[in-house]
Amino acid sequence: MATFSIKTNHLDDTIRNAAAGLLDEVLAARQHLIKGDAAGNDFLGWVNLPEEQDTAMLQRLKADVARLTAKSRVMVVVGIGGSYLGARMVIEALQSEFAMVDHGDRPYIVYAGHTLSEDYYGQLLKFLDHEDYCVTVISKSGTTTEPAVAFRIVKAHLEQKYGVAEARSRIVAITDARKGALHDIAVEEGYPMYVIPDNVGGRFSVLTPVGLLPIAMAGYNIDSLLQGARDMRQICLSNNTLDDNPALLYAAVRNALYRKGVKVEMLVSCQPNLRYLAEWWKQLYGESEGKQHKGLLPHSLSITTDLHSMGQYVQDGERLMMETMLRVAKPTEHVAVPSDERNLDGINYLVTKSLTEINDCASEGTMEAHVSGGVPVLEMMVERVDEYTLGQLIYFFEFACGVSGYTLGVNPFDQPGVEAYKKNMFRLLGKPGF
Ligand code: PA5
Repeated sequence: MATFSIKTNHLDDTIRNAAAGLLDEVLAARQHLIKGDAAGNDFLGWVNLPEEQDTAMLQRLKADVARLTAKSRVMVVVGIGGSYLGARMVIEALQSEFAMVDHGDRPYIVYAGHTLSEDYYGQLLKFLDHEDYCVTVISKSGTTTEPAVAFRIVKAHLEQKYGVAEARSRIVAITDARKGALHDIAVEEGYPMYVIPDNVGGRFSVLTPVGLLPIAMAGYNIDSLLQGARDMRQICLSNNTLDDNPALLYAAVRNALYRKGVKVEMLVSCQPNLRYLAEWWKQLYGESEGKQHKGLLPHSLSITTDLHSMGQYVQDGERLMMETMLRVAKPTEHVAVPSDERNLDGINYLVTKSLTEINDCASEGTMEAHVSGGVPVLEMMVERVDEYTLGQLIYFFEFACGVSGYTLGVNPFDQPGVEAYKKNMFRLLGKPGF
């Protein structure tokens, strides 16, 4: 089960000692998550989600997935923020980078509602003209403008393509149990509906139907995802030291570094298919901690790609940042560097090594370089990328986020700052009442 670990050997003793000195604080923060006795305690439903899945709901979800898969080559997932990033993170981590042209029997997932770009929707509709497709529309509030606009556009296309009755059988809604415009539309039209629990906020909702339905639709094993989360939950809730509880360790290290003046955390990965994990993580930590003018700014790098763009700044620019290096021990694919008798490019010295060994040397070299450049580095290792390990990572990052936020002294479960742009946009658009 030890498929995930954190190493602190790149951190110097001062930081390790400062993190160790925060043990009581992170344990107290964890107690708030367990007892529900601090700010945001009405949004702690995610803590027990892996254990408290409704099996009847999961069966219904799988039946809907089978029914829609039988008649769709594509699913449009409409949602934004927490109603979108979790599903995309898991799907992009597991699918081929070239799934768009080769997705076998699995429906290909495309996204809408996360942008207001006219060009994007024009291109999406042209693509959908030639595809058999279905739609999942996801919004907890049921009133968010971006997915509402996207759903109206896609629904009109779907109805025109298949007729109103067939279109209804190709739409699933995931929203509040009782209220909101999307809830009312779904009831009126008779769409199958799934509920986002009241006590689970958007960015903590990937293990509800919000994430599970699109992930299952893309052909991935949600039972294994939930098992990984369940096993990590056990560790996060039961283990009491920084050595045996990675969530406490991560929360302690990032708070120790923040108190020493670090302002930015870069999540660095050497696998391009984890880029949406970084996007999900940015929302999780940015929305949970970025308040009262506090919190590490979450940033991400994909290596070695970004070493050729941001590498200079990380090595030599302002000393603002820490680095969390997420490594994957075992690849899923195997590709050799071919030998070439003439060796004109001079890389024959690499042919005895696997690409993973070469990539590992790049990661090691990067960490060494950044440490010597004054960037504290925390190393995380996951054995492989599959549903189980992604379930572990999801729960680990969520739990550590709750602990870290309370240790920072903020309510990790609200997001008052997100409203500011909406008010301005509504005023500029002439929405009644603004
Ligand atoms: O984490 C959050 O709460 C937000 O990112 C929301 O998920 C996002 O704003 C979308 O909200 P809704 O699901 O209500 O459409």
